[in-house]
Amino acid sequence: MTRYLLSLLFCAFLAVSCRPAIQESLDAEGNYAATFKANKHYILIPSSYTGKPSKMNLVVDAANVFEFVQDVTVAKDTVDYWIPVDVSPYAGQEVTLRLTGVEESDPVYGGVKLSDTIDMDYDEPLRMVYHFTPAFGWNNDPNGLFYKDGVWHMYFQHNPYSVFWGNMTWGHATSEDLIHWTQHDNVLKPDPLGAIFSGSAVVDKDNTAGFGEDAVIAIYTSDRNGERQSIAYSTDGGYTFTKYGGNPVLPDNPASRDFRDPKVYWIGGQWVMAVSVRQVVEFYGSPDLRNWHLLSSFGEGIGSHRSVWECPDLRKFEYGGKEKWVLFVTIGQDPNHANNTQYFIGDFDGKRFTADPLPYPLWLDQGVNQYAGQSYFNAPDDRTVFIAWLTSSAFSSTMPATKYFTGGMTLPRELSLKSNGRHPILASVPAPEVFAARGKASSLSLKAGDRTVIPGGAMGAYEIDLTFTPSGQDPFGFILSNDAGERVVYTFRPSEGVLLTDRSQSGLQAFPKEVASPVVSVIPVRDYYKVQLFYDRMVSEMFVNDGDAVITNCVYPSAYYDHVEVFGGAALRDVMSYEMK
Ligand code: FRU
Repeated sequence: MTRYLLSLLFCAFLAVSCRPAIQESLDAEGNYAATFKANKHYILIPSSYTGKPSKMNLVVDAANVFEFVQDVTVAKDTVDYWIPVDVSPYAGQEVTLRLTGVEESDPVYGGVKLSDTIDMDYDEPLRMVYHFTPAFGWNNDPNGLFYKDGVWHMYFQHNPYSVFWGNMTWGHATSEDLIHWTQHDNVLKPDPLGAIFSGSAVVDKDNTAGFGEDAVIAIYTSDRNGERQSIAYSTDGGYTFTKYGGNPVLPDNPASRDFRDPKVYWIGGQWVMAVSVRQVVEFYGSPDLRNWHLLSSFGEGIGSHRSVWECPDLRKFEYGGKEKWVLFVTIGQDPNHANNTQYFIGDFDGKRFTADPLPYPLWLDQGVNQYAGQSYFNAPDDRTVFIAWLTSSAFSSTMPATKYFTGGMTLPRELSLKSNGRHPILASVPAPEVFAARGKASSLSLKAGDRTVIPGGAMGAYEIDLTFTPSGQDPFGFILSNDAGERVVYTFRPSEGVLLTDRSQSGLQAFPKEVASPVVSVIPVRDYYKVQLFYDRMVSEMFVNDGDAVITNCVYPSAYYDHVEVFGGAALRDVMSYEMK
């Protein structure tokens, strides 16, 4: 009898312990379902760069978790990485993962798994060290930059389920020093009004919108079959948001389907929104962030119109003792085009922007890989702190050079107006916080033609500073290189007032078209050229003469550039390198 009972118990134990943690089903139409108890943080889906498209949802309590199905790529044969889907909000509950387009022979079938960690690598070779990158997935534009209570918040255009663009969601990261970031849960996910495109955030200290004093309010574009502006509010300092029930607050624009990227400030007693409409910027005013009225439009017949205008931003500066306003706007969607953000300097009377007569277009960054930046709301001391997207996308449309993520952000920069000797320009310098990330400093003495090791350069994360005084009109410059013969060549040509960045032998030549011709940047002619170059594995961000020029270009070496060499007849002084961490 006892033996009978024991064997019964044993059988029951076997039945429980052998029941697979994940129960799968697949129907003849390719609809796959995996049902499991959410006892780990994530469910991981096998994926690959060249897999096949699938629609994904989670079902909990018979309801879809995603208001809009998510596009994912499921692996066909090889598994390159695992898509992490966070199931921690449903801890202990039964969850069903649904995927379309699955076949029995696919790695998905029998392959999805529960895990407390995601498949990613902070040390993958080209992951930047002191620039923001998402742990997993794709990022483009920084969104909703705001500062509050000692914390710099950054939301960003994020695809949490792929290293390619899609499922636009606002990711979230915070930093206390503007350099080292902690990523948090995503805050805004696609809904029936659309994917969550770019926008801004404000701190509503006087409760004008009625969501509470100091509520953080996000103003963003909802994109699906057209574009409209929506808002969402946070009463916990920006960590979670509730979408406003009366969305959209600005319906589709009859003038164009392209109507996006609202940037909002409090100006002259009302909220003012700059938003792009095809190739102009419209300004709207509002007392409460919910009701908006058109103030004016700017852009017809001025500046560059080579493509759609995106991500406008309007900022006030002081120049020569007077108030001046700068409107900057990203243009064009070709990440290989240098000069992606144009700006206008002029006046804003609370309603209308008027541009001073200057030789437009003027460009904020003269490299090819800076795009869709914006400035911080509420930065201390009225500073204009600006961050942009590092657009490495051209290099990654089929096979990214990075494995678990695509994108990243520029260093934080501080913007101001300065003179180039002829007229005011918008100057970008590294935000002072950047220098706090400096590690060991080394003074270098370089001789033309000698290839010198950069101390700590083997880690691929450093700043190198050099000041050249040209002798006559002869070209001069410097080269960063590795022992594999890969190099980036920076050549100043004082006679033409330009700097050439030649990436044609920079490495990973899967991208010959993008790097075939040098990037040409216009540099104001000065007696000397002070270069501050920030190299971080896959990016070269160069600042010249304290804001005369900034040039951001991605590079893809097979080993980090750890040598420097100067050439030409210019005299050289103040050569320093700093490890960056
Ligand atoms: C700029 C942009 C924005 C848009 C977002 C979509 O890179 O095209 O205009 O809101 O990206 O991801």
